[in-house]
Amino acid sequence: MYSLKIIIASTRPGRKGISVANWFIEIAKKDSNFTVEVLDLEKINLPFLDEPKHPKLQQYTKEHTKEWSKTIDAADAFVFVIPEYNYSMPPTLSNAIDFLYKEWNYKPVGIVSYGGISGGLRAAQMSKLQITTVKMMPMSEGVAIPFFEQHIDENGKFIGYEAADKSAEVLLKELLKWTEALKPMRNNK
Ligand SMILES: Cc1cc2nc3c(=O)[nH]c(=O)nc-3n(C[C@H](O)[C@H](O)[C@H](O)COP(=O)(O)O)c2cc1C
Repeated sequence: MYSLKIIIASTRPGRKGISVANWFIEIAKKDSNFTVEVLDLEKINLPFLDEPKHPKLQQYTKEHTKEWSKTIDAADAFVFVIPEYNYSMPPTLSNAIDFLYKEWNYKPVGIVSYGGISGGLRAAQMSKLQITTVKMMPMSEGVAIPFFEQHIDENGKFIGYEAADKSAEVLLKELLKWTEALKPMRNNK
């Protein structure tokens, strides 16, 4: 079993994407290839990057960075659940990535995005620039949910539909392939 960590990027009070995240988490937990852990950036509560040295050196001075380093180091693969803000990826995620470097290396990432007509795709595409710079491998198969609020019921639960459920399954399959393929590289860091 591989360790899959699902990062929830929205930290806004009253955030709505948590329901999209919970829907995906339930699907991922049924996949016997992965043990799933959820990393909610709202709870992790990292400050803006406050380390004096470049993360490549791993000379961390703050407890929150040391904790974040351990958490990310232990993962084999990631899924980022991201909203789109002003056609961009959320700064919370960008900041959380910047804290570290080696801990991210050679790990595949699936992106679940949501928004209005774009389904968060502009944010997803933008995040790939940063993802590849820290030597993570983004999956081209992604889950994009346009007009996501239309699929949230009166209890705040995101109700999956055929295309969304299917794309989640395809993403997890692809993620497994890359998680296995990149294992030798992760072992030789
Ligand atoms: C600052 C801000 C900028 C936004 N920009 C976009 C956007 O560019 N594209 C889009 O589809 N939705 C945009 N929205 C609407 C979001 O899709 C919607 O608010 C969604 O609930 C955000 O996810 P969250 O509630 O999980 O934070 C924006 C919302 C905020 C708060």
